Amino acid sequence: MSELLALSSLLDSPEQARRFLRYVWPARPLHVEGDRGRWSELFELDVLTDVPTLLAQVHPGNVRVQLGDDEVTILPHTVDGHKRLTDVQRLHALALYGAGGQLYLEKLTGLPRLQAFLCALADDLGMPRPRVNCNLFAVRGGSSFTPPLHWDNGEGFVVQLCGVKRWTLADNHAVPFPSFNYDAGRPPRLDQALLFESEPQPDHTREIELTEGSVLFLPRGVWHTTTPVSDSIHLDIMLHPPTWAGVLTDIVHRLGNEDARLRAPIAATAQSPAELVAAFARVRGELIEALSGLDGADLALEGIGGMADDLVRFRRIPEADMEVAPENDGATRVRVTRNGAETVSLTVRDRDTVAVLEWIGAAGESFGLGALRAAFTTCSDDLFVRTLRFLWSAEVVEVFAQEPSS
Ligand SMILES: [Fe+2]
Repeated sequence: MSELLALSSLLDSPEQARRFLRYVWPARPLHVEGDRGRWSELFELDVLTDVPTLLAQVHPGNVRVQLGDDEVTILPHTVDGHKRLTDVQRLHALALYGAGGQLYLEKLTGLPRLQAFLCALADDLGMPRPRVNCNLFAVRGGSSFTPPLHWDNGEGFVVQLCGVKRWTLADNHAVPFPSFNYDAGRPPRLDQALLFESEPQPDHTREIELTEGSVLFLPRGVWHTTTPVSDSIHLDIMLHPPTWAGVLTDIVHRLGNEDARLRAPIAATAQSPAELVAAFARVRGELIEALSGLDGADLALEGIGGMADDLVRFRRIPEADMEVAPENDGATRVRVTRNGAETVSLTVRDRDTVAVLEWIGAAGESFGLGALRAAFTTCSDDLFVRTLRFLWSAEVVEVFAQEPSS
């Protein structure tokens, strides 16, 4: 179990963090009054709290400015692999912000402390790291361009860095855990309409004011809109926890790719309708059989639970020898032998993958994702999972699921 350092810093105490995980996450809202001073260790507060500096220094994936129904999107240029705003783009964004526009900087990068915090937060929540991103919202006090009452299809922490913002909230009794964003009063699309269990607008709302240091956790689907009481800047830490539907979709996709019979094109007009239906029943049966054999290891290899060390661990299979050796052209040859016979041989060029393979090759005892994360702080879970899945399929490592503690 992670020590919850990131969550504890964000929510003011380890007790709050534990309570959050037990009683709040992921379905209930939470408002915590805090002290912004403690955040200077977590984020680059000096950069994040000054809009001109922010526009000059951070690397946003995208910049949007909303002025009521109008929206201006500014696409940063890629320079040396990073997204940057040109001087003209910065002045444009600043002018629109000065005119009361809601400035959204999407998917911030380029701030090492913030990035490290987001990784630690993902670990605390048992989520794959790429599923935690951070936007920044800035708006001048008195701006009339407030967003409509709406809900979003992901969880998020609102971290109030500067100023005061009033949030209007309402529970969502219409669509539990919605998979789509929705503005109150808009006629739902055909594929959405049947999901509404009640009127597509809330019956009553409540208000809270976020001041400097406040944190609001907003589950997906909670109705909300905002009004800036003063100039306001907040971080929107977007969480996209995996869903059961998403995990099963990924697993079915993977199983489909691993089985030639499922990869085969459907020759619809070359068969009679009865033959086609029979073929469908056959592959469906094969898929159900494959799905019924899944266990905790498959969950871990989808990156779920952060492959928490107390859920699933990996260990080398003693009979399998893995040799990781450099080749002349800078590539690396990976050879797996079993009782002296070669079972796998391939060339790897990605240096991170080679380093992870070498680390696992040298691992003397069982290990979990935590150890890999600690050894390779800049690598993503995705790399670990891909490498582990390869080694699992190649029978170099085996997975053992421990009894989950209650
Ligand atoms: Fe929203």
